[in-house]
Amino acid sequence: MTHILILNGPNLNLLGTRQPETYGTITLKDIEAMCAREAGALGITYEFEQSNHEGTMVDLIHATKADGIILNAAAYTHSSIAIMDAISAVNKPVLELHLSNIHQREDFRHHSYISKVAFAMICGLGASGYPLALRAMNEHLAL
Ligand code: DQA
Repeated sequence: MTHILILNGPNLNLLGTRQPETYGTITLKDIEAMCAREAGALGITYEFEQSNHEGTMVDLIHATKADGIILNAAAYTHSSIAIMDAISAVNKPVLELHLSNIHQREDFRHHSYISKVAFAMICGLGASGYPLALRAMNEHLAL
């Protein structure tokens, strides 16, 4: 059975109260519930993780048995060569995900190390991007 890791980076544990004008009022727990529903509908399994620590994210990428990874690396998107290298090392398909449209925001958010190693990117759809990403990853893995 297809198994997907959904990995969330720093500060995403604060969704709901964090800059609601940018990220909305939905919590990470709500987003996990949306993913659970979508995974059920698709007939796949998933694990949902969040970490504020770059090294922990690298470890999770190394350790996962998932077939593919949906990654909202949050601020590490724009800074982490270590997370980019971890993705290259495990050689699994990665779909980059952001709640906000990073290209509409500050210049420093326009560059993504994750995009160098991701097969696709979804941004700007808020929480709806998560179930959409699961569907897209499932289709990608079936190719
Ligand atoms: C984010 C965008 C990043 O630039 C930011 O650092 C985040 C969240 C998003 O989901 O829109 O923490 O990844």
